Amino acid sequence: MLGEFSYYNPTRLYFGKEAMEGLRQEMKQYGSKVLFCYGGGSIKKNGIYDQVIAILNDCGKTVIEDAGVMPNPTVQKLSEGCRLARENQVDFILAVGGGSVCDYAKAVSVSAYCEEDPWEKYYLRMEDVNNTILPVGCVLTMVGTGSEMNGGSVITKEEQKRKIGRVFGENVFPKFSILNPEFTYTVPRYQMVAGFFDIMSHILEQYFSGEDDNTSDYLAEGLLRSLIHSSRIAVKNPTDYEARSNIMWVATWALNTLIEKGKSTDWMAHMIGQSIGAYTNATHGMTLSAVSIPYYRYICPFGLQKFKRYAIHVWDVETTGKTDAQIAAEGLECMEAWMKEIGLVMNVKDLGVTEDMLDGIAEGSFVMDGGYKTLSHEEIIQILQESGKQQCMPK
Ligand code: NZQ
Ligand code: ZN
Repeated sequence: MLGEFSYYNPTRLYFGKEAMEGLRQEMKQYGSKVLFCYGGGSIKKNGIYDQVIAILNDCGKTVIEDAGVMPNPTVQKLSEGCRLARENQVDFILAVGGGSVCDYAKAVSVSAYCEEDPWEKYYLRMEDVNNTILPVGCVLTMVGTGSEMNGGSVITKEEQKRKIGRVFGENVFPKFSILNPEFTYTVPRYQMVAGFFDIMSHILEQYFSGEDDNTSDYLAEGLLRSLIHSSRIAVKNPTDYEARSNIMWVATWALNTLIEKGKSTDWMAHMIGQSIGAYTNATHGMTLSAVSIPYYRYICPFGLQKFKRYAIHVWDVETTGKTDAQIAAEGLECMEAWMKEIGLVMNVKDLGVTEDMLDGIAEGSFVMDGGYKTLSHEEIIQILQESGKQQCMPK
């Protein structure tokens, strides 16, 4: 392991069937006014809303509701949340939902008292936060993004067709997150498997880089094996607690800064996926699944030894009598078969991508240089075109 780093994660986690008790404990530490952010209403149907309100009432909080946070939250919604936070002088922001609600809460946290346009300052110019930061806590209802234990916050500016992820510092990480695997049982199948692939992609973005012998890569392989194993159980039985709890835990560790330590990282699948999201508003995990196989097949020759290792350590590919290239290719075939088995989108056309968007999507994909190959504009278009030749979802 060659890199140098410091490591600290300030988010306290409460995990398991009784995790919600952690909310009661935590709320004692904060002031009386709580901005309660949630999405389109799933929490009202599955009873999580009532549980949260009961605890906030017991703790004597004044609750200001901020409902309707959409998947892929927008700048417009962000300004609404900032106004609510400021006008009510809230002391705390509680996000109850998936990654979109958690990301949004962090965006409100840094933007409510920002004197400039927060989109320009924090998402375009990526400046440090130098205004009041409101503390955030999360009750997670859908797994995938890792937003519950990181500083990530992805916001979309629809008019500009730009979806940008900002990774804020430790001062913006959630103060705590409530992780009850049972809360994820009601996630619709499409969202559930999209979340599974988001987790896989987060791990691979940090795995496919570097050439040194690095403990982080062994951790990544263990997480991947657990994810693949449990995902197969969860698609058959979404209420299998053991599988859902393992997946929830893998998701958190996949993107809470641990497995990137001591390495460079890639993130190119995410850059292309985010740009697809800006054009189509498609589900995040599916934007990644649609480009990953063509992307990894394309870069495989540039990082052959790592792809070979991936095939052996993660997919148990038998090596006897095969070349390195054959072993690596077989690993990607196993990955592709697993993706189809759990029902992921493999073709960008299934996300609403049309030929005339390809140039703009490639233009909107930030090019990263930490992986095995730095892509050109034309290479991104080629990857999108390859995706367009993959199997479509059954209608
Ligand atoms: O809005 P509601 O009604 O709650 O429905 C949501 C939403 O429609 C539904 N859902 C969530 N929990 C549910 C449920 N439905 C039934 N029962 C439950 N328990 O699921 C839908 C999707 O939710 P969303 O929060 O959008 O999904 P996800 O967690 O995948 O978050 C996606 C967002 O996170 C960003 C993505 O770009 C995207 O904007 N990301 C954030 C990252 C980070 N913070 O580090 C990194 C990721 O790479 C990602 O980019
Ligand atoms: Zn992601």
